[in-house]
Amino acid sequence: MERTFAIIKPNAFADGNSGKIISRIYDEGFKVVGLKKLYLSKVEAEGFYYVHKERPFFAELTDFMSSGPCVVMVLEADNAIQKWRDLMGATNPADATEGTLRRQFGASLGENATHGSDAPDTAAFEMGYFFSGLELL
Ligand code: RTP
Ligand code: MG
Repeated sequence: MERTFAIIKPNAFADGNSGKIISRIYDEGFKVVGLKKLYLSKVEAEGFYYVHKERPFFAELTDFMSSGPCVVMVLEADNAIQKWRDLMGATNPADATEGTLRRQFGASLGENATHGSDAPDTAAFEMGYFFSGLELL
């Protein structure tokens, strides 16, 4: 079993799609190990996305991620990191295939509904950024 870190981003939360996304997560066979709603500050969003700090979209990304509440989760499954990225679909909802979450709930490249870790080391950092060990029992 593997764990990954996921976010229901502010656009999907504001649109009332959190329930549908969580339902889909269960339908696809993930176990939800951790789950909470947060309203990130700009500084907290910058800390989370520090790997992108030199990218041209960093300010836009962290403004958006601190623009409203989101839901952060730890998901468990066999091959959870890739399995969750497959369920999300391509980064740009316009490129995401039918049946993926970003195709269904994403509004644009920036407001693309969900986040997922891309590797075991980033998953470990991201889970630890938002959850204590006790919250993941
Ligand atoms: P994420 O980290 O959110 O799961 O998305 P990802 O791996 O598919 O994409 P990544 O390259 O890590 O980019 C992080 C987020 O930044 C936004 N983005 N904006 N304006 C742009 O050119 C641009 N490029 C990326 C996206 O919202 C992406 O999810
Ligand atoms: Mg990424």
